[in-house]
Amino acid sequence: MYKITSHNLLAPAVRDILIEAPLIARNRKAGQFVMVRIGEFSERIPLTIAGADTEAGTIRLIYQEVGKTTMEMGQLKVGDTLADVVGPLGKPTHLENFGTVVCIGGGIGTGEILPVAEACKEAGNRVFSIVGARTKELLIVIDEMRKTSDELLISTDDGSFGFHGLVTGLLEQLVERGEKLDRVFAVGPVPMMRAVCNATRKYAIPTEVSLNSIMVDGTGMCGACRVTVGGKTRFVCVDGPDFDGHEVDFDELTQRLKAYHTMEKEAIEHWKEHQCRLEEASRS
Ligand SMILES: Cc1cc2nc3c(=O)[nH]c(=O)nc-3n(C[C@H](O)[C@H](O)[C@H](O)COP(=O)(O)OP(=O)(O)OC[C@H]3O[C@@H](n4cnc5c(N)ncnc54)[C@H](O)[C@@H]3O)c2cc1C
Ligand code: FES
Repeated sequence: MYKITSHNLLAPAVRDILIEAPLIARNRKAGQFVMVRIGEFSERIPLTIAGADTEAGTIRLIYQEVGKTTMEMGQLKVGDTLADVVGPLGKPTHLENFGTVVCIGGGIGTGEILPVAEACKEAGNRVFSIVGARTKELLIVIDEMRKTSDELLISTDDGSFGFHGLVTGLLEQLVERGEKLDRVFAVGPVPMMRAVCNATRKYAIPTEVSLNSIMVDGTGMCGACRVTVGGKTRFVCVDGPDFDGHEVDFDELTQRLKAYHTMEKEAIEHWKEHQCRLEEASRS
């Protein structure tokens, strides 16, 4: 059992959780993830390790409540336990001193890019970070991103904070002002990662993306996380989650992410009905 030692709301439906998992805390590297199972009969979901405290023996996850499992997790309190936390899984992000790098996080992807930006800085890179969200309230871990970056640029789709527009607009600004960018790392929604890759392809900047495909086991056995990269079949859980963004078949990834929409919708409706019944029973 894995005890929750802290659980805070960072933004609407976005939570920051610390979990006792000393072995994972000691061994994790930037870019890796864990498979979390809340209870004995829950599904397993992949979440990126956003940070770790080796002395306290805790790992940090930053997650968005998008469906049944993440909403259920959102209800857990400090002191509650999770049935399983398996990891660290996946290949760590390939890091070295590239020169100047740009770390781009879109929405919840900002929590996922944070450890990469920290590791890029530690490896001696000059780090530009770009963080984007739909609106000001959804910007997360801004202070930490600023601390680890030589320069932080922020965009919101609605213009409520920073640059009015998409993260790619800020990336173009860096190129236009003459910065020589040696590598880009991007994590966020698929359309955002695709747009970043289209922009960097023009300038031949190598670009790594972290793919959030659907996963079942996280160990390369089930095939659920299959993607096509450079014309070859790859499994995100064991071959990734980082891949060369210029080689990813984003159309296929988009289609595969939609594969379980009906079942996901049903699961959340059943869960909400069940919650209502529990509330009614507790009132009577
Ligand atoms: C390697 C990896 C790391 C991840 N790290 C994080 C993280 O650090 N924080 C975080 O919030 N999420 C992360 N995700 C996505 C997370 O696993 C899903 O949001 C979660 O599984 C949803 O489960 P659910 O039952 O709550 O929602 P579901 O009912 O399964 O899905 C609800 C809706 O959410 C969307 N969705 C579901 N799965 C994904 C997905 N994998 N990617 C994008 N959208 C999805 C779909 O629109 C779906 O209809 C990661 C995924 C992978 C593969
Ligand atoms: S999640 Fe099963 S093979 Fe990757």
